[in-house]
Amino acid sequence: MQGWNGLYQEYAAGGAARGVIGRGIRPVFRRFLDRNQFTKRSALDIGCGFGQYLAYLEARGFTTAGVDISELAVAEASRAVRDGTRIIAGDMFAYPFPENEFDFVFSFETMQHGTHDQIRELVRNIHRSLVPGGRIFIELPRTNAWVTFRKSKKVAPHTVVPLDGPETGIPHSFFSKAEMKDVFRDFEDLKVSRDELLFGNNWLITGRKG
Ligand SMILES: C[S@@+](CC[C@H](N)C(=O)[O-])C[C@H]1O[C@@H](n2cnc3c(N)ncnc32)[C@H](O)[C@@H]1O
Repeated sequence: MQGWNGLYQEYAAGGAARGVIGRGIRPVFRRFLDRNQFTKRSALDIGCGFGQYLAYLEARGFTTAGVDISELAVAEASRAVRDGTRIIAGDMFAYPFPENEFDFVFSFETMQHGTHDQIRELVRNIHRSLVPGGRIFIELPRTNAWVTFRKSKKVAPHTVVPLDGPETGIPHSFFSKAEMKDVFRDFEDLKVSRDELLFGNNWLITGRKG
C-alpha cells in the first residue's frame, strides 16, 4: 500500500514511519493556548493524524474538526474524539470547510506536502474559514534537512520528492522566512519563528485574521 495509508500501516508494524508521525502534544502548543483567548472555541486540525490534538482541545472545551488524507488516520482519530466530531477523510488542498467557521486553525508537519502554489491557496482558504479575530498556529519547514530520506528528486524550486524511506513519492516543500511572511501576509500580528523541536528546522507561524 502506497502513500499515507501505507505509512500508517508501517507505523502500526513498528517501522521507520514511527519517526514521521507524532503522538504527543507540543509544549509550545500548550503555551500558545494558555496565552490566547478563543471566544467561539471552534478549532480545525489540518492533517489531524491520530487526533491527539483534537482530543486535547475537546478536553479544554473546544468544538473540533479535522481533515486527513489517510482513512487509517481518520479511523483512529475518530476513536480519540467525541461522537459527532467532524473528521473528514480528504485532501486539505480541496479544503472542504466553509467561510467564517473556526476561531482557531492549526497544523503540524502536514502543510508542506504539496507545491508552493497549492500551499499558498491553502493558506488563503484557511484565512477565509476563520472568523474575524480567529488565530492560526502552523508549522512549515525551513529546510529539508531533517527529513527521513536520503535520495530525493527536485520537482520545483524548494520542493523535493523522496525516492527512498517511508515518505517515498510524497512532495515536501520548504520556505525562506521572507516567503513565509509573504504567504501569510493577510494575517495580523504575524510571527514567523524557529520551532523549538526538530533542531529548529521548522518555522512556527502564528497570526490573527483582522
Ligand atoms: C507527519 S503526519 C502529522 C500528523 C499530526 N499533525 C501530528 O503532528 O501528530 C502528517 C499527516 O498529514 C496527513 N496528510 C498528508 N497530506 C495530506 C493532504 N493532502 N490532505 C490531508 N492530510 C494530509 C497524513 O495522512 C498525516 O496524517
